[in-house]
Amino acid sequence: MLLIDFIQSVDVDSLVARVGEIGFAKISTGADGSPGQLQAPARTSGTINRYALSEYETYGDVFVLEPNAVAICNPADVRTVLGSHAFAKFYDFYHTVDLLGVKNTFSATDPAFVNMRKRQLGPFFTQSFLNQMEPMILERGIRSLESKWDEMLSRSADGKVEIGYSNDFMLATFDIIGALATTTQEIIDWVNAAVMYNGTMATVPVTNYFPFSLLLNPWKQKFHQLAQFCRRAADRRRELLRQGREKPVDLLQAYIDAEDPESKVRMDETQITAESIVATVAGTDTSATTLTWTVHLLMNHPEIYKQVVEEVRSNFAAEHLITHADVKSKLPLVEAIIYESMRLCPVQGGYLPRVAPPSGVTLQGHFIPGGTQIYINYGAVSHHREIWVEPHKFDPTRFLNSEAARRNFFAFSPGVRICPGRHLAFLEMQTILANMLKDYDWSLPEDYTHIGPEVIGEHGYPKIIEASHLLVTAPKNPERDCRLVISRHA
Ligand code: HEM
Repeated sequence: MLLIDFIQSVDVDSLVARVGEIGFAKISTGADGSPGQLQAPARTSGTINRYALSEYETYGDVFVLEPNAVAICNPADVRTVLGSHAFAKFYDFYHTVDLLGVKNTFSATDPAFVNMRKRQLGPFFTQSFLNQMEPMILERGIRSLESKWDEMLSRSADGKVEIGYSNDFMLATFDIIGALATTTQEIIDWVNAAVMYNGTMATVPVTNYFPFSLLLNPWKQKFHQLAQFCRRAADRRRELLRQGREKPVDLLQAYIDAEDPESKVRMDETQITAESIVATVAGTDTSATTLTWTVHLLMNHPEIYKQVVEEVRSNFAAEHLITHADVKSKLPLVEAIIYESMRLCPVQGGYLPRVAPPSGVTLQGHFIPGGTQIYINYGAVSHHREIWVEPHKFDPTRFLNSEAARRNFFAFSPGVRICPGRHLAFLEMQTILANMLKDYDWSLPEDYTHIGPEVIGEHGYPKIIEASHLLVTAPKNPERDCRLVISRHA
């Protein structure tokens, strides 16, 4: 067999997992900052979410990941590192996400470019711009989900149907972000492939090089289909505008119009396509998966589910479409539940790297020399024992009227590279969750013996379903584990 045939015959997932197995060696820091001793190898692939958390439990707030890399998760240290451009994103990791060969909001490591892009795109991620997009978000989000579910219910003999909520949320969030064309299963495959393709190159560096790069070909092809799709959408939009159509208020139009007020620089076609892909990849899986975790957690905690249903239904009539402003003014528990779900099951539950500035930095009494990679352990910082009482417990009340809890909320990566899509994500997640709670009664399928409030996990609370992680920490078996029986609330 030729080498090339052999490479193409390898099962990519298992190879990525194996490359991950032989990833970093771990060395814990001694109390005096000395290197300490070699520890077990870390996983860089699908299980990193689990390792990130257990590594904090084993090695503590700061430890050496490999000779030039440390991991941190103490909230104060994480704030220091994320709070300043002095700690740049680690180029070797992020430049693999230079989509179509150009820098973008996510991949850029130099502050000058980051700030220019913020000036260009920032206005389109503000709450006031989002308010203008809200009718479209409601239409493509909760309204289209409800018409799909109602259509299924209209064909049901007993007034109940089983939905695959992970997939449904993915369809809705894609449709919101894209505001492009019809949503198909094919597009979800492309988005997943884009995540796998770019995520594998970032986390398994050997796959950047021939012949291992050939392993990624199936994902690469789908990623290029997504790129073509985004490019065609921008072309189509320009054509419609040329024909005199009114400008729609959506992200695609925002990207076409974006201009840096200082330099008057606009994005060229490739940059618009690259930013559209970033928004599609960064803004669909993340919000959809957060909603998926939220539904799962509510089904694990029927007492909280009951309370939140009561909150929603006592505030709004059946026919009222709950808006973002409604949630902010009347539904504190809905809001708190989403925060808590993102704390307990952060979709970024792994490690992301920054680099120490030339002068170095002292964290937890350890001097970290300039140029060292500093990996933020996102899974651990949201479970940190100094901040969170009973960190493994799902307890949304932590976020009720608590400024301190929100200050210690890291799921959107606070600081100079904070997620620009957070307001949009909250808007879509809150409106979908609140209306879904108001309009449907939920229950678990009868055949679920492995999921539910009585199935207790290792921390003594209802067991959270198995997750896997590449760029997003998501349920590992969504078709099996993310099913829900719904009926219309009378
Ligand atoms: C629940 C939903 C979301 C979560 C949990 C989330 C989380 C995050 C996190 C943790 C980062 C930091 C990544 C890093 O440091 O490398 C990030 C960055 C980013 N997110 Fe989100 N995100 C969400 C939704 C969105 C949406 C809806 C969009 C866009 C439409 C978006 C666009 C971005 C972009 C462009 C960046 C890069 C920002 C920069 O580096 O300056 N995200 N997000």
